[in-house]
Amino acid sequence: MTSAKFIVFEGLDGSGKGTQIALLQRALTEKGYPVCLTAEPTQHATGGLIRDALGGITKRTPHELAALFLADRIAHCENPADGIRAMLEKGTTVICDRYYFSSLAYQGMDIGLDWLLPAHVGCPAIIKPDLCIFLDVPTDECDRRISAGRSSREIYETRESIERVRRSYSEVFERLSPTHNIKIINAARSPEDVSWDVISAVGEVLGI
Ligand code: TMP
Repeated sequence: MTSAKFIVFEGLDGSGKGTQIALLQRALTEKGYPVCLTAEPTQHATGGLIRDALGGITKRTPHELAALFLADRIAHCENPADGIRAMLEKGTTVICDRYYFSSLAYQGMDIGLDWLLPAHVGCPAIIKPDLCIFLDVPTDECDRRISAGRSSREIYETRESIERVRRSYSEVFERLSPTHNIKIINAARSPEDVSWDVISAVGEVLGI
């Protein structure tokens, strides 16, 4: 048994996950907790196929894309060198930028949850997180941040998609809240204020 925990960040595109993950990493490292950062889609081969689809380079059906994310996630959990399970067993707390809640919200809005939900929560290779933090930012603010940050947009980064994903996340959290530890944090505030709430939610899980 180790005290390492598996913490997942979720949010709309432009919700500030990267900033909050960096602030959390700094806070935990200062307290002496071994931490590793990871993200989905991964940098492995399947992650590359997904990036091509997200950038519009390759066309994929929503089912194909869901299956690619699922395969990428299984490899992410099971990779013996640097996979999530290996890290947790070494006693390292894992902070992951997006996880199966993203598949359920993004792909789920097109293909529903009938197949997708059991494929994730019923798969023994896929690790259930100890905490999911959702950074809640209004659609218009995400849209503004995406415009300010880059010149081109991926397939889910249109304003219309962001709004649909937002509704889809709500449905997913309603469905999963009886079985998952999900904290929804108002992230339309200063990074420092948001970080305060993030660190306190993680502190509860780590027992600090
Ligand atoms: P990122 O911009 O946070 O790196 O995420 C890449 C995009 O991939 C983002 O639009 C969300 C999307 N995505 C899915 O559609 N399904 C998933 O399972 C994951 C992990 C990400």
